[in-house]
Amino acid sequence: MKDIAVVGVGYVGLVTGACFADLGNRVVALDIDSGRIAGLLRGEMPIYEPGLEELVERNVRSGRLQFTTSYAEALRSAEFVFIAVGTPSGVDGEADLQHVQAVAESIARAMDHPLVIVNKSTVPVGTGDWVADILRGTQPKPIPFAVVSCPEFLREGSAIQDFMSPARTVLGSLDAEAAEKVAQLHLPLRAPIVITDLRTAEMIKYASNAFLATKISFINEIANVCEALGADIKEVATGMGYDPRIGRTFLEAGLGYGGSCFPKDVKALAYMAAEKGRHPQLLQAVMDINADSRRRIVERARDLLGGLGGKTIGLLGLTFKPNTDDLREAPALEIARKLQADGASVRAYDPVGMPRAEGQLPGVHMAADAYDLADGCDAVIVCTEWNEFKNLDLQRLHDRMRQPIIVDGRNIYDPDEMAAFGFHYRGVGRGYDRTPEKARA
Ligand code: UGA
Repeated sequence: MKDIAVVGVGYVGLVTGACFADLGNRVVALDIDSGRIAGLLRGEMPIYEPGLEELVERNVRSGRLQFTTSYAEALRSAEFVFIAVGTPSGVDGEADLQHVQAVAESIARAMDHPLVIVNKSTVPVGTGDWVADILRGTQPKPIPFAVVSCPEFLREGSAIQDFMSPARTVLGSLDAEAAEKVAQLHLPLRAPIVITDLRTAEMIKYASNAFLATKISFINEIANVCEALGADIKEVATGMGYDPRIGRTFLEAGLGYGGSCFPKDVKALAYMAAEKGRHPQLLQAVMDINADSRRRIVERARDLLGGLGGKTIGLLGLTFKPNTDDLREAPALEIARKLQADGASVRAYDPVGMPRAEGQLPGVHMAADAYDLADGCDAVIVCTEWNEFKNLDLQRLHDRMRQPIIVDGRNIYDPDEMAAFGFHYRGVGRGYDRTPEKARA
């Protein structure tokens, strides 16, 4: 059992803290947002993450997980301090490190015994060294510390499972003894542990996210070609995925990647490369293809409807992916705004994301469920592949629409089945035109 402080109770910090507590450690989680901490003390989660509420509740009850806004309290008995605060994008794509800096300064002022400072926030390569400089520069008197980078690979929606069963743990430090101590904390997870230097660990995080984003843009580019040539991207991806060198995951064509990580991290990596005089042309293409995937879906709706002015369009799903309430860089938001700009009325339904979306989408009517959404729509665009959308009563949906047009941005429906129900259905990269007439032919 170790004593751990975690700074930041966003989805990385809260999941990390709750999971370390569940592994038997004593954890104090700190946030300067007193509203969030007060909510947590009442048992209210600041984010939607399946299983998190039970995990937090269990560990608070056992006394292993506590919350505070005070650095003195969080650091009192801590041996390790995890930094898990946000690093949003600055204007040019560079990561904004003001929160990391504020945390490093606060730790430096509050610490009164040696600490291992573990950075989980995704930070530009070189930040670990910079954090160490800030600590040294801010400490009122020198107290030994070590900085270890331990990038997170948690996916929203399955963060607890990803924490408890990681594919690997990456640790980077110039202090081998500190890295070894952090490795010990992760031993119960029984995953391979890669120990390297600080900058290499920081780079592993960016390179991993950039590679996954590249896979998504790659399959979206192939989907676009599939459409032109009459092939089916889902079967192409399946056929490719059996090759272990390629793998089946992250080959779902559709609206491209959103969320708080891939868009920001690909941009930040490209920025870091360009700043050092390199030409990150692949990363640039990955970003361009991603932006095109969203644009193309609006074009498709426009083509099918012969113009968007005066039309009513329903968006099925708003969050950037299922099982989260996160709307950051969600394709649906951009699509809604484009449709409105072109004169369409927009309706939307999302099982979890609507309360957050309301403020961001003025003029969009939020529907009670998928059928209510379909009411009077000239077209419905599937933006998020929530499970509850996969088994809808398609006849009921069909009957409530003014025109039975479905643009499936996540390829969740079967084109032949949709045609059989009388829909004009278009997925992404699903080959040829399957109008009801052709399905009958
Ligand atoms: C991602 C990474 O998967 C995590 O390993 C990483 O820790 C995290 O970023 C982070 O840096 O914090 P996350 O953003 O939660 O996690 O979501 P993913 O499940 O990876 O999906 C990202 C986006 O790609 C979503 O918009 C999703 O719809 C899209 N996607 C994913 C596709 O369009 N096609 C696919 O085949 C897979």
